Amino acid sequence: VSANSTTPADLDAPVRDFNHHSDPAVRVDPFTAFDRFRDERVFWTPELDGFWVLTRYADIRAVLRDTETFSNQSTSIPPIDWSRRLIPVELDPPDHGRYRTLLTRYLNGPAGTAIAAAVDRECVRLVERLAPAGECELVADFARPLQNALLIALFDVPDDEVPDFARVAGDLVQASDPARRGRAARDIMSYVDRAVAEYRAHGARGETGSLVEHLAGSEIEGRPLHQEELVNISFLMTMASIETLVTSVSFSFRYLADHPEHQRRLAADPGVAAAAADELLRLHSVVSISRVVTRDTEVAGTRIRAGERILLCLSLAGRDPHHYPDPASADFERDNRASHLAFGFGAHRCVGAKVATSGLTTALREWHAAVPEYAVPAGTVLVTGGGAAASLERLPLRWSV
Ligand code: HEM
Repeated sequence: VSANSTTPADLDAPVRDFNHHSDPAVRVDPFTAFDRFRDERVFWTPELDGFWVLTRYADIRAVLRDTETFSNQSTSIPPIDWSRRLIPVELDPPDHGRYRTLLTRYLNGPAGTAIAAAVDRECVRLVERLAPAGECELVADFARPLQNALLIALFDVPDDEVPDFARVAGDLVQASDPARRGRAARDIMSYVDRAVAEYRAHGARGETGSLVEHLAGSEIEGRPLHQEELVNISFLMTMASIETLVTSVSFSFRYLADHPEHQRRLAADPGVAAAAADELLRLHSVVSISRVVTRDTEVAGTRIRAGERILLCLSLAGRDPHHYPDPASADFERDNRASHLAFGFGAHRCVGAKVATSGLTTALREWHAAVPEYAVPAGTVLVTGGGAAASLERLPLRWSV
């Protein structure tokens, strides 16, 4: 292994060539790709300007718990020079909590219930349409429309604007042309601008109120939110929810397609869907997050210095054999399955966790009620990707009708 200029001179820890973006193994399976590093509890990699990697559930959770020593400001790997901070995820306490409360209050109230119900309705509609066809491409035909239903409900997009909104949301993550992605980001921001202007002029449109209306009517430290704060939060909510649900649903179905015994179980016992959702999220924790160390400290018995970055690959936590016996197998009865870190842990734990888990649960229940047995057609090559969020390009499925 080649230590280079990004490696601290007096490093007293193992050094490994680890790169979660470009490692060829992530093209085959982003969840097992890093199992070969498990022998080390903690190591340094000189890749991507240098950073630490933790491999154990308990150590990853301990870092997430301590927001004073491990900050969320400028944690990106590789580092990017971006002056704007996403609210609330790139803020530390106490500022962080003031903004986060606005989101949890909204999603834990009637709006959260209404959004989950909209996703459920879309799920039923999609399954009814797809089941008689005998085949589909699950990512585009099922997972992405479900996520669009979530976004459309979150922003209460008027019916006639839905096709445009769905296209922009798709471009934001899928477009390979950076100019097109940039345009999509600006389109989302100007959508929020317009929604705020409309709310200020005419008040709320619906009964539960959209996210933007909720934020526009909220106060922080006795003052209304500034327009740029509102746009920033809405943009983060879009980015945070846009691909995560798609990939979590898609990877769950990829696993099930290879495990007919679990398909049969879900078809025979719809009540197991919630437990299955937790267990499949443990197995497919799609997000990797990072922290930057604020003061010299010790992690997993190793000295780490102020300013250094730590990657928390949540799928390493989800498949840590020290925490989950037989970690690579789904066991819907596993008693600690709900302890998974797919949504992070502590102060920044995902505010959309409830809505997302509910969406996956409904997807598992409705799908298996209508399509109890299915498989990936022989010879199909599945292409996956790593980085900050694992991805699955396509998932063709076939079943008999
Ligand atoms: C299965 C789908 C999802 C996964 C796997 C996921 C994962 C995560 C993770 C790991 C974090 C922690 C980030 C950190 O600690 O640095 C997070 C935070 C967050 N997520 Fe999600 N997420 C999902 C869906 C959603 C949805 C649907 C929404 C919006 C409705 C959302 C909104 C957010 C926000 C706003 C934060 C920042 C919270 C904070 O900083 O306090 N996520 N998510």
